[in-house]
Parts: sequence; structure tokens; C-alpha cells
Amino acid sequence: MTSTTIAAASPDEAVTLRTARLTLRPYELDDADALARALGDIEVARWLARVPHPYTRDDATGFVEASRQAGPASPGFAILFGGRLVGGIGLRQSDDTTELGYWLDRAHWGRGLMTEAATAVVAHGFGAMGLAEIRSGVFVGNEASLAIQKRLGFEIVGRHMVHSIARGESVLHIDTRLVASRKL
Ligand SMILES: CC(C)(COP(=O)(O)OP(=O)(O)OC[C@H]1O[C@@H](n2cnc3c(N)ncnc32)[C@H](O)[C@@H]1OP(=O)(O)O)[C@@H](O)C(=O)NCCC(=O)NCCS
Repeated sequence: MTSTTIAAASPDEAVTLRTARLTLRPYELDDADALARALGDIEVARWLARVPHPYTRDDATGFVEASRQAGPASPGFAILFGGRLVGGIGLRQSDDTTELGYWLDRAHWGRGLMTEAATAVVAHGFGAMGLAEIRSGVFVGNEASLAIQKRLGFEIVGRHMVHSIARGESVLHIDTRLVASRKL
């Protein structure tokens, strides 16, 4: 498992995580163009619930502002590889649980980058954030994402229909969960 370092001045301050190849830092307004380009790819957006298609620069700016206001219970991270934004990952407080979500631009798939990023964010969730469980899941057919979650120890706990804004329809979603005692 990759080792992670965490940088934050105080418990309330947004953290930056560092792994062997990646820097995961809070979103900045300057990220909007890179976000709009990467999330504008339907092959990325179709696997995410809340990303519209087409995805505009205004959508990206709104996302960055919301992420920066969300607070430490819902940290969002831009994923930097070689100094460039290549994806995003975050934990989002929702009802009585916290959900993990992530994406990577298509040019960077298949190099183990999201396994590395998700490992660091899950460790942060169970470590500094003190979470007891993390929920996630995939739209049916997303074998790469399910492989990442299984590798991290997530187990399938259900299936239900979730609306995909990009696809404009509800899609079967496989729900997964990782409890702190099972993390790898
Ligand atoms: C899903 C996504 C994040 C994967 O990122 P990635 O960096 O390419 O993933 P990794 O290389 O770390 O790991 C992918 C794993 O899936 C496996 N995999 C890839 N394609 C697969 C397939 N068709 N069937 C089964 N396993 C597959 C890989 O072998 C790898 O597992 P391994 O490390 O055990 O060999 C990326 O494809 C993406 O952003 N997709 C669009 C958005 C998305 O799906 N987000 C997640 C929503 S739940």
C-alpha cells in the first residue's frame, strides 16, 4: 500500500495529501478550465451521477466554489500528476454517512493512479476524519471502478436506481461500503 503524507496547519483547514506519484489538494478557481475539459468527456461523465453533459466552465466554477465552501466533513481534492490536474476525488457527507466519489481524465486511465488516490483518501477518512464507514458504488458496467473498490476492501451491500444527469436517465447502481475495521 502506498504511503501518504498529510499537510494541514489546523484541524479545520483543508488538507493536501501526497502519495508516491500524486498530489491531492483542495480545488482552486484556476482549475475550472481543466475541469471543464476533462469532465466534458462523455466517457467520464456517463459514469458519474451529478455531472451534466455538456459540462461548461460555469459548471466547473460552481463546482469549485461549492467544494471550497463544503468544509472538512466533505473534502474535495484535485488530483495532480506531473503538476497537472488529471482528476478529482472527494468524500461527501450525506445523511448519516460519507460517500467516496472520483474520476480521472481518459488519457490517464489504466496506470493505477486512482487506486493510489483512493487509497490515500480512504486512509484520510478513517484516520484524521475518524469515520466509521465510507459508502461508494458504481453504475452497473463500471468494472474498473468496482475493481478499485474491491481492492480497497469495499463490499457490495445493495443495488438501486440512481439518476445520471449526463445520461438523462436512471441507471442501476451497485452500492458498496467499507467499514473502518475492514480497511486493507
Ligand atoms: C474508474 C477510473 C477512476 C479508474 O481509474 P484508473 O486510474 O484507470 O484505475 P486503476 O488503474 O487504479 O485501477 C483500475 C482497476 O480496474 C481494472 N480494470 C480495468 N478495466 C477493467 C475491466 N474492463 N474489467 C475488470 N477490471 C478492469 C484494472 O485491472 C485495475 O485493477 P488492478 O489494479 O487490480 O489490476 C477511471 O476509469 C475513470 O475516471 N472513469 C470514468 C469516471 C468513473 O468511472 N468514476 C468512478 C465512478 S464510480
